[in-house]
Amino acid sequence: MHSYTLIAPAKINLYLEIIGDRSDNYHELAMILQSIDLADEIELHSISTDTIRVHCNHPLVPTDRSNLAYRAAELMATEFPNTFAKYGGVEITITKRIPVAAGLAGGSTNAAAVLVGINLLWKLGLTQSELEELGATLGSDVPFCVAGGTAIATGRGEQLSPLPSLNNIYIVLGKYKSLEVSTPWAYKSYRQEYSDSYIRDSDNLAIRASAVHSGEMVKAILHQDAKEIAQKLHNDLEKVVLPAYPQVLQLRETFANAGVLGTMMSGSGPSVFALCESQEHAEEVKLQVKTATKNEDLELFVTKAIAHGIQIVS
Ligand code: C5P
Repeated sequence: MHSYTLIAPAKINLYLEIIGDRSDNYHELAMILQSIDLADEIELHSISTDTIRVHCNHPLVPTDRSNLAYRAAELMATEFPNTFAKYGGVEITITKRIPVAAGLAGGSTNAAAVLVGINLLWKLGLTQSELEELGATLGSDVPFCVAGGTAIATGRGEQLSPLPSLNNIYIVLGKYKSLEVSTPWAYKSYRQEYSDSYIRDSDNLAIRASAVHSGEMVKAILHQDAKEIAQKLHNDLEKVVLPAYPQVLQLRETFANAGVLGTMMSGSGPSVFALCESQEHAEEVKLQVKTATKNEDLELFVTKAIAHGIQIVS
């Protein structure tokens, strides 16, 4: 095959706890990540010139090296130069459905799809864990995007422990199109304001300490209980993002007033999600929030938890 089409799902953070800072300038995290069926489509074609080309239908997505999907292809070309020389270049076409710069891992999941796709295109035979390891060098969320489903993520987010898949969890997601939050800014602001509470040690006591809190969410997931999960939603980055971005706070309140089970910002924002009782409930909430906000800039999606990461369509 000289071309592959892949589905690259977004993720939400059901839980994000910042444990401390690290010597590599990242933060030590305890997260619970969930794939959702809001997804981009990625097409990969072998081309005869030894170049990497990216196309995207979204005007704000760059097509140069600053695009993580481009860097994923470049990484594969560097890691496997002989194969790159044998198969030639690669053309990547991204059909964006996931809102960009939203805290939904849109860029990371595109990069994950390129790793999975090139592995097939060049018949490299890499295992999922080898692809996750390569992904970790591109970004903290890329390994999860390769694996998908429901997982605990520790370290800087790249160390994964799978959890049982969540079924029948329906979600409404909102994002203001013109609003972007810088992830480095969010973590830096958190460090400036809250580093007094950081746990610093050399032998990962921090992770064990945090499991006390994230453990409650794990229990809720094991019970497959949407109400219980909704009560345990947590995101430390809300502490810095909500005060700085009143629109995000307001959207969160609008969701809460619409009678959802629970609502939270995803990642470093600015997207906000809400857990609902059923698909019908999620559709009602979407309509209610659309009517209450009357804002053309607000994109709303009904989505659901899924049990997989990157999928090969053809
Ligand atoms: O790993 P990724 O490139 O997605 O991270 C983006 C930015 O988010 C990093 O440059 C860093 O500022 C911040 N970050 C962090 N700690 C993490 C993950 C991300 O400080 N565990």
